[in-house]
Amino acid sequence: MGLKIYLDGKLVNKEDAKISVFDHGLLYGDGVFEGIRAYNGKVFRLAEHLDRLYNSAKAINLCIPFPAEEMEQVVLKTLRANKLRDGYIRLVVTRGVGDLGLDPRKCPKPTVFCIAGKISLYPEEFYRLGLTIVTASTRKNIPEALSPRIKSLNYLNSILGKMEATLQNAPEAIMLTKDGYVAECTGDNIFILKDKILKTPPTYLGALEGVTRKAVMELATRNKIVCQEEVFTRYDLFTAEECFLTGTAAEVVPVVRIDGRVIGNGHPGKTTLKLIAEFKKLTANEGTEIY
Ligand SMILES: Cc1ncc(COP(=O)(O)O)c(C=O)c1O
Repeated sequence: MGLKIYLDGKLVNKEDAKISVFDHGLLYGDGVFEGIRAYNGKVFRLAEHLDRLYNSAKAINLCIPFPAEEMEQVVLKTLRANKLRDGYIRLVVTRGVGDLGLDPRKCPKPTVFCIAGKISLYPEEFYRLGLTIVTASTRKNIPEALSPRIKSLNYLNSILGKMEATLQNAPEAIMLTKDGYVAECTGDNIFILKDKILKTPPTYLGALEGVTRKAVMELATRNKIVCQEEVFTRYDLFTAEECFLTGTAAEVVPVVRIDGRVIGNGHPGKTTLKLIAEFKKLTANEGTEIY
């Protein structure tokens, strides 16, 4: 059976899931999206993903044509149509079809689509051995221009960072704010453990409010690990006891080397391993039932 895609109210075959070249999502990156994960017949933190989607839309004054409860059904329906219990979901709302001008008022109807498919997992050794990553020279978009808290279709900033990572054979790159503070990675949030305190940059600096980030902060608190949002620099990364990244696709993944510096003892740390195990338990047990 081929992949079924939800597109503007219908489930269509992958080959028929086409949108106009006049769609402003394509012409200008004018739209918002979510990357969501299903585990063991349940969608992880679906309500939080939908909240972020609707908030991102609100921030760009894009009116999603139906409420979040209906969007939840779109996600579940797409998963069911593809008989999935585990998988990755890409939910997208674009400004819709307009003319060649920027004016969103020329786009009367947003385009909504949802893709649900198998997830290509990170290699197992990433978790066992930890990642070697680099800092990108491309700075994070300044929040005053395009807030990184908006999960918009305009991902060029992250793509430029990712290209720098790839050039150095690294799976991820850290992105700094214009002032040189650590913001996040190109598609993941970042945490360090220093003096036994877990720290992650505040999102107002210019980072996405990651759903995994929030889950890990909750898990830390539940496990009596002090966790706080704090502004820090590359010096703090290099001298951290532990470091890890969080994201829907990556989950919780250890980092053992940054820009040639060994982090901690060069192996995934105890706290990181604990949080990986706790996160696994959480995703196995919590979520919106698909069937
Ligand atoms: C730039 C960026 N930061 C962080 C994340 C992690 O967010 P989440 O845990 O919600 O997947 C993502 C994932 O989409 C991202 O694109």
